[in-house]
Amino acid sequence: MAFYHPILFRLDAERAHTLTIAALGAWGKAGTPLAPSVPRLATTVAGIAFPNPVGLAAGVDKDGRAIDGFFGLGFGSVEIGTLTPLAQPGNPKPRIFRLPEDRAVINRLGFNNGGLDPALSRVCSPAKAGAQSGHPPSRVNKGPGGEGVLGINVGANKDASDRAADYVHGVTRAAPHADYITINISSPNTPGLRDLQHGAALRDLLAACTAAKGTTPIFLKVAPDLEPADIDDIARAALDNRIDALIVNNTTISRPGLRSANAQETGGLSGAPLVPLARRRLSDFRKATGAAIPLISVGGVDSGAEAYARLRAGASLVQLYTALVYEGPGLPARILRELDALLQRDGFATVADAVGVDA
Ligand SMILES: Cc1cc2nc3c(=O)[nH]c(=O)nc-3n(C[C@H](O)[C@H](O)[C@H](O)COP(=O)(O)O)c2cc1C
Repeated sequence: MAFYHPILFRLDAERAHTLTIAALGAWGKAGTPLAPSVPRLATTVAGIAFPNPVGLAAGVDKDGRAIDGFFGLGFGSVEIGTLTPLAQPGNPKPRIFRLPEDRAVINRLGFNNGGLDPALSRVCSPAKAGAQSGHPPSRVNKGPGGEGVLGINVGANKDASDRAADYVHGVTRAAPHADYITINISSPNTPGLRDLQHGAALRDLLAACTAAKGTTPIFLKVAPDLEPADIDDIARAALDNRIDALIVNNTTISRPGLRSANAQETGGLSGAPLVPLARRRLSDFRKATGAAIPLISVGGVDSGAEAYARLRAGASLVQLYTALVYEGPGLPARILRELDALLQRDGFATVADAVGVDA
């Protein structure tokens, strides 16, 4: 997936994405940050100090090749992955489709990634850096943007005989390297994966993962395509297992009123058409958890106004992916400026003060 650019948009979406990640990876080593740090936007969630509440969603930088570049664009957090224990190629290409008239994307990548260990060797390890310097982990991912929070999103290999064991493996291995870990059981592109969102399978998975995480906070990422009973089940299981935050939500398999030629491609839909569903699920999970677990809202966030609305509706943080494709690399800095102005306008001294005021 690539930022909007006439030349990049003429390329196949996946080829453009690879070029974009390579360019950002190089820029991240030497570039000047695009977004100043704004004290009002700093916020602590699940015990982690985020420089701002706008994060890069999983799937953009699956293998952790451009983390510093994304911090340099202004993101307060970068979630790499989804990473599986073993490298896997994913589904046949083409498997990413732009829907320009809808400002949306459909993807059926299927967890293509280079495997957990190679990515871990690439990321800066807060815990190790802390241990070596004698200081506590300081969240030390320094890009042109300074400090940021690193999340590592883990999943199961398509052919795993024991999927839960893949998650436990991922959590165990990633924990020393991550500020937080996300267990992603919500991709529509690995057959049967989302069955882990239900009943005993979910409770067993969460118990095993929380036992493996050590002191690293653990987040759970859910699908938007859920029935009310599923939502209550997930909320209960997350509370019972002391999950540190819920990421609401992944892409949808629904196709709400699309106009673009690629609308009927198989896969998960993201971007602007996901906004109504993402807002609804945010409020559903806010009710179902009684605000006892921080919520991270994802799906179609493309402006400071939308980020602000999500915070007011109960999200402690937001993440985005697809809007970056259409708005370009200046988007995070613009969202931060707009969000800061909105908070100031309404008299909120901090992000946390605004969370849930409309809920
Ligand atoms: C091309 C593509 C690949 C994605 N890959 C992943 C992934 O590997 N793991 C994951 O948890 N979510 C993945 N997502 C979902 C996003 O993280 C996000 O939840 C979703 O796209 C909704 O946000 P958006 O509308 O801002 O894009 C992917 C999304 C896209 C468009």
